[in-house]
Formats: sequence, C-alpha cells, structure tokens
Amino acid sequence: MIHIPKAEYSRRRKALMAQMEPNSIAILPAAAVAIRNRDVEHVYRQDSDFQYLSGFPEPQAVIVLIPGREHGEYVLFCRERNPERELWDGLRAGQEGAIRDYGADDAFPITDIDDILPGLIEGRDRVYSAMGSNPEFDRHLMDWINVIRSKAHLGAQPPNEFVALDHLLHDMRLYKSAAEVKVMREAARISAQAHIRAMQASRPGLHEFSLEAELDYEFRKGGAKMPAYGSIVAAGRNSCILHYQQNDAVLKDGDLVLIDAGCEIDCYASDITRTWPVNGKFSPEQKAIYELVLASQEAAFAQIAPNKHWNQAHEATVQVITAGLVQLGLLEGDVDQLIASEAYKTFYMHRAGHWLGMDVHDVGEYRVGGEWRVLEVGMALTVEPGIYISPDNQQVAKKWRGIGVRIEDDVVVTKQGCEILTGGVPKSVAEIEALMAAARTQAS
Ligand code: GLY
Ligand code: MN
Ligand code: MN
Repeated sequence: MIHIPKAEYSRRRKALMAQMEPNSIAILPAAAVAIRNRDVEHVYRQDSDFQYLSGFPEPQAVIVLIPGREHGEYVLFCRERNPERELWDGLRAGQEGAIRDYGADDAFPITDIDDILPGLIEGRDRVYSAMGSNPEFDRHLMDWINVIRSKAHLGAQPPNEFVALDHLLHDMRLYKSAAEVKVMREAARISAQAHIRAMQASRPGLHEFSLEAELDYEFRKGGAKMPAYGSIVAAGRNSCILHYQQNDAVLKDGDLVLIDAGCEIDCYASDITRTWPVNGKFSPEQKAIYELVLASQEAAFAQIAPNKHWNQAHEATVQVITAGLVQLGLLEGDVDQLIASEAYKTFYMHRAGHWLGMDVHDVGEYRVGGEWRVLEVGMALTVEPGIYISPDNQQVAKKWRGIGVRIEDDVVVTKQGCEILTGGVPKSVAEIEALMAAARTQAS
C-alpha cells in the first residue's frame, strides 16, 4: 500500500514548530467517533489536521507540540492498552506504541490529560489551537487554562495569547510534497479504474446505484477505506442537480449519466467526474454540449502553471463556455457582455475547481491580500467545468433540456505547468464510445 512515510510526519511537525512564536504550545484533538444510530458508529475518519501532523489513526487522542521542551517536543495523549476492549474493538497503540511506531517523544494516557496538560501549558505565552471548529474541545482547553489561572496566586503563569493554528497549518497543507503527490496519484489511479468499470457496466434498465456499486467495488479492491465524499451518480435530468445523492433512479436509453466520485487513500482525496451516454452513443445535442465542456477544460489546463493566478483557469472556462453557448444558440448576444452580466450562470453556475488534498475541498486561501492567489509548484486542484440545461428551461429548444455534463480532473502544479493525475479515464467522445462498445461486444 502506498502511504505517507513516518519520516514525513516528523518533518511536518518540525516545520510547524519552526513557524510558531517563541515559548508557545500547539494542541490538537483527534476526530471524535460519530454515532450513526444507538450503538452503531460511522466508519472512523481521523481529523485531517491531526492526521497531517501524526498519522495516528485512533480516536480519543490529543497532540501537544512544545517547541524547545527538554523532555521532548512531541507529546501524544492516547488510549491505554486494554485487552478486554481490544478483544472487542481492535488493537490500540497505547503509550508504548505511540512512541515506538508514531514518533512521539512522550506519551500519556488520555484519561490523565486533565492532570498533566495544564502543567505543560503553564509558563507558555501562546496557545495555538483550531479555535471554533470543535466547541467541546474549546471548552476543555478553557478548563485547563482556568486550572492554571486558579493557581496564579501560587506563581503559575497562564498563557495570555490564543492563536488560530489554521493559518500556519493550512498553508503547509496547501503545498503537496513528493510523498503526498504519490499518494494522490494512487487515489486518482484507483478512482480512474472505478470510472472505467462503471462506464463498461452502463446499460439502459440498470439503476444509478448499480453503477455506484461498480465504483465501490474498485475503491475497496484498490485498498481505499472509503469514498472521499458521497458519490454522485446522476442519470438523465438528475445530472442537472449539482450535488445529487439519491442514486436510485433507472438508467434510461438515450440519457446521459454523470458520475462524480473518487476514493480516499491514506486520507488523501481524489475527485473525478465523467459524463457518458447510458447506451454508449452520444446524441448530437449531448455531443455538442460534451465537446464544449471538454474544450473549456482544455483551455483551463493551459492556464495552470506557476505564476498564473487562481482565477485564470476559471476565467478560461467561462470564456469558452459562453462563446460556445452563443454558437449553439443557447445564449444570444455579445460574448463579452454575456460574461459581464453573468448570463452564462444559467448554465454554468459553479466555479472551475477547488484545492484538493486531505479534504476534497481542501484547506488553503484562494486570495492573499485581496488578490487571487498565484499558483506555485505542489499546489493540487480540480478542473471541473460543466454545463447544465435545466429540464424546466423554457427559453431553449426542447432537444437541449435535461442535458447535464461535467468533466472533472485533478492536477498538481509543476514547474512546467501541471500534471494531470486522473488522465487514466477516457475523455473524448470517440474514446468513451469505443470503450463502451468494446464492453458490449465482450458481454454479448
Ligand atoms: N465532488 C465535489 C466536487 O466536485 O467539488
Ligand atoms: Mn470537485
Ligand atoms: Mn467532484
């Protein structure tokens, strides 16, 4: 299995600590276990910031980073070993494992945190934490601070500055290392295979969930624990619902199906959309819209390179799509004016992409100092233009209504331009039709 090597977690912690103000401490909790119903839990997914700094996969844990601490800068609070609980729920690293396998300098039972953590905070000027994102943890933190405050008359020194960790940490997460790109390539490879499998399985009379099952099969077979987000399998008019999730309609002859799905490997997401005809053959209208979206995506790729700014790729898609819609007679008027008045938004109402990483809509600022961010090597993003013609749009000829097309790929900015991570799925009309025709021949 391809994963982030242990040494990289240590490098990340050191890089973060190097950016913290002198005499400070950072505190981050693991994700809580989410209850699905009664005694059934959701599949556990570690908090992305916590995972980024530790690779530690368990709940009920707290990372404490104390730059310059003599007895070790990286302290991990985690569950104790417990033969009875481990028999039922699975192995735990325990404090020994935290040190041996996860690089902690010091580890304590999570049940002792109230007794130990105030002493670690005491005397530090600043506390870095993800303020506001976990209200229960924020309350605990204030309790620990208040323990120190209550001892002020004995000479205890509570911190007097509380700093949001997000700014430092999320900027680090925006730049992907070679190891991260490797993991993202693997997630992309498996997701590409999943889309191919769904394309090959596509037949009128199946259901949207039949294709979702094909995706899930490839995800799990490839070693992904779960999809990076709820898979969208949207046939016919459902393709015009951007975040469609029902996935239970019948696939009809003559309709398109839009699939937006990607798996997660070692907590790194992939995010692919392909749109194809259920029966394997594009109609002339479907083909026209599809090729327009594809051309806009190509135009966007050309705008992704170091020193280009974040919005250039989006602007390129708007330009190509608006001009194309005028050519097809779906919009009327001057292209520049239609762009200025945002008339294209009737058909293309979302942006061309987002940062991609541990979170599918990853962290990182899109603007810096009021200006669009300039792209740099190692930034990962999606490129996902689309055209959606509402089934209820009375302004356009009937033949166009209910067509929804999105094409989405994942890229990493390189010195020369960008590397497309998800190029393994066929994309041109000819390639898709050939792949689907071959699958039919084999099946019959
Ligand atoms: N799958 C969500 C998105 O494409 O942004
Ligand atoms: Mn996306
Ligand atoms: Mn997507």
